[in-house]
Amino acid sequence: MQTLAVELPDRHYPIHVGPGLLDDVSLLTPHLAGRQVMIVTNETVAPLYLDRLKTALADYDVKEVVLPDGEATKNLEHVERIWDALLAAGFNRRATLIALGGGVTGDMTGFAAACYQRGIAFIQMPTTLLAQVDSSVGGKTGVNHPRGKNMIGAFHQPRVVIVDTDTLKTLPARELTAGLAEVIKYGLIRDVDFMAWLEDNMAGLRGLDAPLLTEAILRSCAVKAGIVVEDETEQGVRAYLNLGHTFGHAIETAMGYGKWLHGEAVGAGMMMATALSHRLGWLDDTAVERVAALLEAAGLPRHAPADVSAERFLELMHLDKKVMDARLRLVLLKALGDACITDEVDDAQVHELLAQWERQ
Ligand SMILES: NC(=O)c1ccc[n+]([C@@H]2O[C@H](COP(=O)([O-])OP(=O)(O)OC[C@H]3O[C@@H](n4cnc5c(N)ncnc54)[C@H](O)[C@@H]3O)[C@@H](O)[C@H]2O)c1
Ligand SMILES: [Zn+2]
Repeated sequence: MQTLAVELPDRHYPIHVGPGLLDDVSLLTPHLAGRQVMIVTNETVAPLYLDRLKTALADYDVKEVVLPDGEATKNLEHVERIWDALLAAGFNRRATLIALGGGVTGDMTGFAAACYQRGIAFIQMPTTLLAQVDSSVGGKTGVNHPRGKNMIGAFHQPRVVIVDTDTLKTLPARELTAGLAEVIKYGLIRDVDFMAWLEDNMAGLRGLDAPLLTEAILRSCAVKAGIVVEDETEQGVRAYLNLGHTFGHAIETAMGYGKWLHGEAVGAGMMMATALSHRLGWLDDTAVERVAALLEAAGLPRHAPADVSAERFLELMHLDKKVMDARLRLVLLKALGDACITDEVDDAQVHELLAQWERQ
């Protein structure tokens, strides 16, 4: 097991990563606020892991909420089910909520904890690679609104994050690959040594080698946590976390949510951001080839969806919420491991890139 200490200005908490941590109750007990524990999970994850966690917590007053699966359930109606369960159980302000599942479960559970009796303790046990390297770090919690994704929410930091790498054994391969897009992103924006390490170890990661997964998750969390601590108010470097996302969101919207997984769209989007950085003279041919090879090794797409014209693509990029005024504001790469934000690229350059991009 390895541990990363996340140091925020007003508090700190550990992220433990390794195989077999799910029922290691010694990692949990120091962070439980009292005897009352409510585990929140979903219909897919519950049959796989709920009993083991409940058995480990046998000495506590444990209740559970099993929600339906899917992004479509990430709304207030399902958060209310968590509040209903807490009230029905008579749980007080010293109760602890544990999120056992992917990013959808973590976002909803964290939000439920932020609001219940004005805030109770919350623990993340993420079971998708995306949740382990991205959504469980940073303290953002919340739900979708019919008018927009993640529009209702709160900042609420967990007491501890426990990542059992063995849970990835049951994750569909496509979801694992989608999570790898965010892992690669951390190398590209901040840590070229990590990128090189990923080039050497991608096959082992996809083969679920536990020590390699542990290292990749820990280094990813370290990059994200470092950026979040540096820029809590989201004025500057936090935007680097959106590398490939303006292109990616355009793909997700064009295809209709769900056809491409978020990470797949971000993979293609990072390739586009890399190619644009090359056109601006910031990256050489070798750098572009390295990014392409790494995305391919992870099993990520590098093409754009068929039937989306360059015009439509550009229009969707302008609609993305990260775009201020009329000019596109893009995260690009000055070098591998060195991101920047620029609004100096004009639409004609992006259009030219998109018009020539390979479709599939
Ligand atoms: N809070 C943040 O900072 C932040 C950052 C990035 C993404 N997010 C949010 O995260 C969500 C996406 O998270 P996700 O990709 O984990 O999606 P998800 O939670 O929907 O999980 C993906 C699928 O995998 C299943 N699953 C989870 N763990 C499993 C396991 N071990 N074995 C088998 N199946 C398993 C889930 O039931 C689901 O069907 C989005 O709602 C997004 O907005 C939040
Ligand atoms: Zn993302």
